[in-house]
Amino acid sequence: MPEPNPPIALLAELTHRCPLMCPYCSNPLELVQKQQELTTDTWTRVFREAADIGVLQLHLSGGEPASRRDIVELTAAAHAAGLYTNLITSGIGLTQARLAALVNAGLDHVQLSLQGARPEMADRIGGYKGGYDRKMRVAELVTDAGLPLTLNAVMHRQNLADLGQTLDLALSMGARRIEVACVQFHGWATRNRASLLPTESQVEQLKKDIAIARDTYRNRMAIDFVPPDYYSDFPKACMGGWGSTGLVVSPAGQVMPCHAADSIPGLAFESVADRHLGEIWRSSHAFNAYRGTDWLPQPCQSCERRDVDFGGCRCQAAALAADPGATDPVCRKSPYRPKVDAMIEDMTSRASASDLTYRKFG
Ligand code: SF4
Ligand code: FES
Repeated sequence: MPEPNPPIALLAELTHRCPLMCPYCSNPLELVQKQQELTTDTWTRVFREAADIGVLQLHLSGGEPASRRDIVELTAAAHAAGLYTNLITSGIGLTQARLAALVNAGLDHVQLSLQGARPEMADRIGGYKGGYDRKMRVAELVTDAGLPLTLNAVMHRQNLADLGQTLDLALSMGARRIEVACVQFHGWATRNRASLLPTESQVEQLKKDIAIARDTYRNRMAIDFVPPDYYSDFPKACMGGWGSTGLVVSPAGQVMPCHAADSIPGLAFESVADRHLGEIWRSSHAFNAYRGTDWLPQPCQSCERRDVDFGGCRCQAAALAADPGATDPVCRKSPYRPKVDAMIEDMTSRASASDLTYRKFG
């Protein structure tokens, strides 16, 4: 197998601990406990190793990364390693003093999650009373500090009607960019699929609304849109292709090609505790299992989109076809597509809006 290109981005899942209880959490069913988390020293070494192998961007994520007491130290370590550092946060746990310390440590960017455009919706979906107000305050602190702010808004059956309000709110919060992402069904989120999966008519309306909004907000706020996988004719190139541009380190140190990869049975992930990040990237079995296109099955192997989507998402294939090496089942050419259509029909025809199973750490 030829030597892979260097990775561009590292997603460091510092912790699975989180004060919110979002039903669409994509973290695994089995969470890493605090005592299993990597130490400050190990993360510091990992950031250096990442920079050495060519990583440019570091996303500090979780769970809630601010749940780590050493978040300022970790940010300083990442900055010292020369990485562009982005904090992906719910905002809970970020005080004025802590944010000032993060800025001093060299934080470059903040990505703030938005659970809803109205306090009732945000606090209900996040399962955290007062979360909306805290978030508004954090957005103010971020923009006052001169840091660029991106908002992450997860859209689902219960909040798609609030798109306009969500975009207006994002602009008023000072966001330069918003990512409107339809819920992805990995990890815990699969438990709430019947309550969160949008209907086909909602999705059609959403696509039209996004096109209009991009025009309306032009030059004021960029709008990224992640459409729902299940309604696509062809899959997305998940992670830009397995093991091609990015890597993920779990709170306990497992190195994975994507954040949901440990849902794939039979794949073993090496740990930063045992090997240099670069060696794992280049030669670990998990990274090489689905790298490139040689491994692709039919119909992908002879498809004109082979080098566009690389057969889609391995985690989705494992979840929906019980075969991580299969063509992504959402693809119109996949033999599993009728099964996906039947599942959509089933999921969107039952479940009431209140049927949510909340995520709780511990
Ligand atoms: Fe992509 Fe494979 Fe479907 Fe072609 S057949 S569009 S390569 S998933
Ligand atoms: Fe794992 Fe797509 S989420 S490959």
